[in-house]
Amino acid sequence: MRFRRLINASVLAVVAVGSLSTVAASAHDARPPKPQEQTLRSLAARHGLSFGTAVDPAAYAADPAYKTMVDSQFSTVTAENAMKWESLEPTRGTYDWAAADALIDAAVRNRQLVRGHVLSWHSQLPAWVTAGIDDGSIDGPKLRALLKRHITDVVTHFRGRIWQWDVVNEAVSDPWETPSAIHLGGNAGSFKQKFADLLGPGYIADAFRTARAADPKALLFYNDYNIEAFGDGGPGDKTQFVYDLVKRLRAEGVPVDGVGSQGHLATQYGNYDVFQVADALRRFTDLGLAVALTEVDARSLTKNADDPAVAANGADLNARDQAAAYNYHVLLQACLLNRHCLSFTVWGFTDRYSWIPNWFKNPPEGSGCLWDAAYQPKKSLRTVQGDLAAAGPPLVQTRLPQVPRR
Ligand code: XIL
Repeated sequence: MRFRRLINASVLAVVAVGSLSTVAASAHDARPPKPQEQTLRSLAARHGLSFGTAVDPAAYAADPAYKTMVDSQFSTVTAENAMKWESLEPTRGTYDWAAADALIDAAVRNRQLVRGHVLSWHSQLPAWVTAGIDDGSIDGPKLRALLKRHITDVVTHFRGRIWQWDVVNEAVSDPWETPSAIHLGGNAGSFKQKFADLLGPGYIADAFRTARAADPKALLFYNDYNIEAFGDGGPGDKTQFVYDLVKRLRAEGVPVDGVGSQGHLATQYGNYDVFQVADALRRFTDLGLAVALTEVDARSLTKNADDPAVAANGADLNARDQAAAYNYHVLLQACLLNRHCLSFTVWGFTDRYSWIPNWFKNPPEGSGCLWDAAYQPKKSLRTVQGDLAAAGPPLVQTRLPQVPRR
């Protein structure tokens, strides 16, 4: 008996020591995980900011590491290609919703919001639309009717499940195109110009009105690249042109709720600074619009800058790595500084599946994502994590929710 009591006492002592060390351990655990061990979505949630990625359904199905990261790191997803017209209606009159629906179902499971991308765009149209435009069988009135039906069908199908729609994408020319004065369309004689001419200038307002009628609750965005900062305000300033366009649309009562700045940056060009981008976002939000960074990546030349046949040296690659991180930093900080900047979406998060090497081949470019091709963190990731962790009131405040404009 006495012996047994002793045992009990020693068991109790062990338990007591155990629970003491449990207390010590849990006091330690009560400290938040290091920022670099937290998910981007939880770091961004401190600011009410949604942190998103474009998703490639093939990689999502085939690569468990990719799926795990999409599911855990992000609070918003965008279909990289699965909601484009060519994907949804490859054959005239026959819709294929499977890939896009699966993406949305996964988003619901993961409590993620969805950016719908994209309704009106001259690129990645079904072959039957492109061929019809080229051979003249689809004239202006026919194209307008087709686009209206497309927008109605797609927005109706996804009604209630899309947070922000990119209603019109890349409708505006670039300053290096001919004529160089910015306009709706692209290079003289290009397909992009033909598409704009056939539709006529009123098509943008119509696209927004059609989308609003099909889903009154989704936020409707105009989305474009190279509008991160204003230039000289002259006829070659694309940001100014887009600003004037959305300002006019708002004044006419067209239901435009936001401007998406894609944010495809490249380290071989001059960088913006945080305040140039913050100023551009502020000018858009002063119009009553929301803004979002919708397709961020920061690519670099992968070879010697003077001779693409020669490998880049380590010093150059280092500098590019750091410049890419700075580009992410500029866009993210500018977004954080604006309470109407609702989401920050990267166009893919790993170099393993990035669109960049397939698209920018001459000279070869790559390395634009937060994680490398082996899912190892890059300087860009650490910079983004640090920015999200270090920001807060009074200069960085939580986002203000946006209500669709009637
Ligand atoms: C890109 C995709 O990432 C590629 O897979 C596809 O081959 C071409 O389109 N601006 C946009 C996006 O609005 O839809 C584009 O996505 C990248 C540029």
